[in-house]
Amino acid sequence: MFNRLKKDKSNHKGITRRSFFQKIWVWLGVVAGLEFTGLLIAFMFSGSKRSSRKDMSQVKIIGRLEDISPNTVYPYRSGQIYLVRMKDGGFLALSLKCTHLGCSIQWNEDEDKFICPCHSSEFDRKGDVLSPPAPHALDIFAVIIEEGVVKVDLGKKTKRKKFKQTDLIYG
Ligand code: FES
Repeated sequence: MFNRLKKDKSNHKGITRRSFFQKIWVWLGVVAGLEFTGLLIAFMFSGSKRSSRKDMSQVKIIGRLEDISPNTVYPYRSGQIYLVRMKDGGFLALSLKCTHLGCSIQWNEDEDKFICPCHSSEFDRKGDVLSPPAPHALDIFAVIIEEGVVKVDLGKKTKRKKFKQTDLIYG
């Protein structure tokens, strides 16, 4: 009698425990499913924000329009560019990478040209090749002039064979 009672009690306890753990597993499954869905939605929306933030971080402020004199070449080394302002006020943002093998060109004010220290290619201030082995003109970056501020978008680089008048940007 006592043994039967003990057996019933243990059976009753086992079923309760099993159903308890089954409920726990169901709830854990529901919570995990909700978390996964939340993460999926957050990932989908954060992707577009991340890319627009990245795009913004590529735009560098160079200075105020009136502070950049015509007929000058400004090195902006952290951006890997030279900002050139022509005599007529037009802007050009030249990549400082030589189009031969990518060495950094140097501006020579006295000779009014860029010179590559690696194999002596030379470029004029428009970026056109004066002396090979560089095969084509220096790449340019997009210049943006907004509310009197000159910016360069380092995310928008254009390769070109030769300088064109339309490369120049005016304020
Ligand atoms: S890398 Fe500039 S001339 Fe060769």
